[in-house]
Amino acid sequence: MSNYHIKHLEEYFQVYRKSVREPENFWGEVAEEHFLWRKKWDNVLQWDFTKPEIKWFEGAKLNITENCIDRHLRTRGDKTAIIWEPNSPEEEALHITYKELHERVCKFANVLKSKGIEKGDRVCIYLPMIPELAVSVLACARIGAIHSVVFAGFSSTALSTRINDADCKMVITADGSFRGSKTIDLKGIVDEALEDCPSIESVLVAKRIASDISIKEGRDEWLQPLLDAADANCEPEIVDAEDPLFILYTSGSTGKPKGMVHTSGGYMVYTAYTFKNIFQYKEDDVYWCTADIGWITGHSYIVYGPLANGATTVMFEGVPSYPDFGRFWEIVDKHKVNQFYTAPTAIRALAKNNLDFVTKHDLSSLKVLGSVGEPINEEAWHWYNDNVGKSRCPIVDTWWQTETGGIMISPIPYATPTIPTYATLPLPGIQPALMDENAKEIKGNLVDGRLCIKFPWPSIARTIWGNHERYKDTYFSAYENMYFTGDGALRDAVGYYRITGRVDDVVIVSGHNLGTAPIEDAINEHPAVAESAIVGYPHDVKGNALYGFVILKEVGETRDRENLRKEINQQITEHIGPIAKLDKIQFVSGLPKTRSGKIMRRILRKIASNDLSNLGDTSTLLNPDVVDEVIKEKID
Ligand code: WTA
Repeated sequence: MSNYHIKHLEEYFQVYRKSVREPENFWGEVAEEHFLWRKKWDNVLQWDFTKPEIKWFEGAKLNITENCIDRHLRTRGDKTAIIWEPNSPEEEALHITYKELHERVCKFANVLKSKGIEKGDRVCIYLPMIPELAVSVLACARIGAIHSVVFAGFSSTALSTRINDADCKMVITADGSFRGSKTIDLKGIVDEALEDCPSIESVLVAKRIASDISIKEGRDEWLQPLLDAADANCEPEIVDAEDPLFILYTSGSTGKPKGMVHTSGGYMVYTAYTFKNIFQYKEDDVYWCTADIGWITGHSYIVYGPLANGATTVMFEGVPSYPDFGRFWEIVDKHKVNQFYTAPTAIRALAKNNLDFVTKHDLSSLKVLGSVGEPINEEAWHWYNDNVGKSRCPIVDTWWQTETGGIMISPIPYATPTIPTYATLPLPGIQPALMDENAKEIKGNLVDGRLCIKFPWPSIARTIWGNHERYKDTYFSAYENMYFTGDGALRDAVGYYRITGRVDDVVIVSGHNLGTAPIEDAINEHPAVAESAIVGYPHDVKGNALYGFVILKEVGETRDRENLRKEINQQITEHIGPIAKLDKIQFVSGLPKTRSGKIMRRILRKIASNDLSNLGDTSTLLNPDVVDEVIKEKID
């Protein structure tokens, strides 16, 4: 029996049982047999969810880039590590071998050092999906600096909040980016953000769109000349297994975004292990995950997980609709992709278009299809299965979170029988629990509740940067001795899990987590707005869309409503980014509130979702009349 590579269902059950009965032996063996450590650990695991404190492989020393690059050089030096597919199909794709990746990462690491970046310093990376993004992430890891990648679709305000929260010393960006037929002025956004980021000492700028940018003397520099002059060797900084590897921000239901901190050793072991099993990667396969490296999916399953397995991983700069809706399938055909991993929102958008976009490409290389980021609805699942997988590629519906670092519940292809909309079974080491309203665990099958995890796994985030109390409150306070996910789930008759969605005020729009409170804060800053409430409602492409109920300051406000709607969305774009824009905005005279003044979001959610049958008892509200008014003027 192999602990590392599960090939059939019986083996899964055996491995799973071992991982639960003897977690330390299990992970100790996986870690020892498949990775390069400079010093072995003193303890496999020490944990206490009440503090909470979780340590994996404490005392061990390593560098993750040695595992992702150097150790492959002898056997896979000329193998392609990264295939970079540009935004425009007219531009040539790049094939970066492991040897070349080593050189690029070493040079970049030396540039970072020459700019004074040291172990433990935070570096903000705000780049489009160009090779420099993967290389800079690895270069930080090479020298023990902590990378904080911010998705390059976020606004300048969102960027500066994240830079300041982590006290970053440097920003790595590009002059601009290509996204379909658009270009985006990234450097301009960075300049705006840096107006209030006192910790930033230097900015490195990659050239992508060759636009005119302003260079602030003493702070900004073009990257390429520095790379050209840098030494091609850089010894890896050997770090402790529990040293932070990166910070990645995720939305909370309230307050500032949370900087989830992931550490080196456990994160490496778990992402590599899950990559191998969930995608059944074989030596000559080409694997493609369509996510952006700005999200956790890209960190774990474009960069670290695949590279730790010596895989060939595709990085795509563009969008699925450019130059037409066949782009994904053109790329699969062109690079003979074997494993393809995307989000339900992309599948739904593609399914709305002509099937010719799919059928005209040869997809016979595909072996495994993946889905991530939100529940996949049955229709999208069947479309994906029938038209892309031609009913011969298992679909792995992978449930996990920024906080979990790696995939938690998922089928193992060719082992676990799949059912549409079910993420199926927990991976080895993952012990899920469903909880009821009284915080009691619900045992048995055919039940539903709030999804928790009872036992630590190697890639769980260790804290929220700068705010351990919030980490404890958010994840470890609702249920004693459990990690609370924020999701609801059901367990069917055979023990399969189906994730039913968020149970807090986070809404997942096109696969992106959005907290409603930060959006409300952004809207409330508009001078005409007195108060607002945002809720999600089902949308056939995005999964969920946002509906805003807005009270204006002056009852007799006569300004054009359409203009106000545009201004409100503009306000959101500036504070957060275009991904958080509202699809519907209804101006109301009041919001349904409890007697203690709390907005009854449950009622607003039902109204926005057109589910008026069971609004519950509204008579206890402070202002029951408002409900009728809101319903009457609801936007369809
Ligand atoms: C949701 C993305 C259903 C869930 C990796 C989770 C899913 C949140 C699935 C985390 C899935 C992710 N089925 N829901 N297969 N995958 N989710 O942090 O609500 O961007 O809590 O991590 O996405 O989103 P995040």
